[in-house]
Amino acid sequence: MATAAAQRTARPQADGAAAREPADYQRVFDAAVAADERIEPRDWMPDAYRATLVRQIAQHAHSEIIGMQPEANWITRAPSLRRKAILMAKVQDEAGHGLYLYSAAETLGTGRDELLDKLHSGRQKYSSIFNYPTLTWADVGAIGWLVDGAAITNQVPLCRCSYGPYARAMVRICKEESFHQRQGYELLLALSKGTPEQHAMAQDAVDRWWWPSLMMFGPPDDESQHSAQSMAWKIKRHSNDELRQRFVDICVPQAESLGLTLPDPDLTWNEERGHYDFGPIDWSEFWDVLKGNGPCNEQRLTQRKRAHDEGAWVREAAAAYAAKHTGGAEAAAHETTGAERA
Ligand SMILES: [Fe+2]
Ligand SMILES: [Fe+2]
Repeated sequence: MATAAAQRTARPQADGAAAREPADYQRVFDAAVAADERIEPRDWMPDAYRATLVRQIAQHAHSEIIGMQPEANWITRAPSLRRKAILMAKVQDEAGHGLYLYSAAETLGTGRDELLDKLHSGRQKYSSIFNYPTLTWADVGAIGWLVDGAAITNQVPLCRCSYGPYARAMVRICKEESFHQRQGYELLLALSKGTPEQHAMAQDAVDRWWWPSLMMFGPPDDESQHSAQSMAWKIKRHSNDELRQRFVDICVPQAESLGLTLPDPDLTWNEERGHYDFGPIDWSEFWDVLKGNGPCNEQRLTQRKRAHDEGAWVREAAAAYAAKHTGGAEAAAHETTGAERA
């Protein structure tokens, strides 16, 4: 039986190294996806598959770096050194997630400059959840528990995504997201068991973040434009509604342990389905925030562009250093060769 590696070397590659007839390309790609193999950067892939991945990975990368803002807002006001250290580590992790993901997009031939330009000019989106403000310290806990929790539910199946570099980036990201989720849960637990004011602050944060977290899974399956094709390509493994239900089922008992309530009077265990039923989601709010009318859309993008402009000198210095370093190595190699000739 041929090993996966042997099959991969036989697969037509984008540079035509093992190319046969054009129809072979699609057939071999389809067979690799069907066999649950990973598609790698040099493999041939349909243009639409590449475009879908670039769009999804870019939106994911943008969400990681824009998502740093609402929480970074609380670093200077964290209530203790311990909380400050945890929050700083978490926000730095999100920057790292952005880097892994921009690198994954680069393997598809789309540079970071181009993607950042599209983010800054509003041509590419980031997750709408980050257009809500962080009003109190408890929001840091609610984001960790609910927003990072929803992200994990979405992202664990992406570790098996058909595109290799994206799948591998997700493995590390998911490990770090689970730390984020736990720190949020632990923070909310401390507040919930604290003074009545602290408990009320935790409850208020959960009340505000619950519904936007459910919207993170995207529109209902019958309205989701890209879902069916992404599932056929094994980029996605589960539908939006399936993942949303999984998240609700995880959160209900956790909310009980936290001593907090979820703001949905329709939330009840459905014995027949073996899942929790939940109330209707206000999709008009989702579309409105997506269109740019959320409470913080403008602030997030302005801040991002300012950070990018202010970081220009760092990028220039790094590029100059790299050029000098590479130039120096080349010159040294040249000298050696010259010496050998002499
Ligand atoms: Fe992240
Ligand atoms: Fe996170």
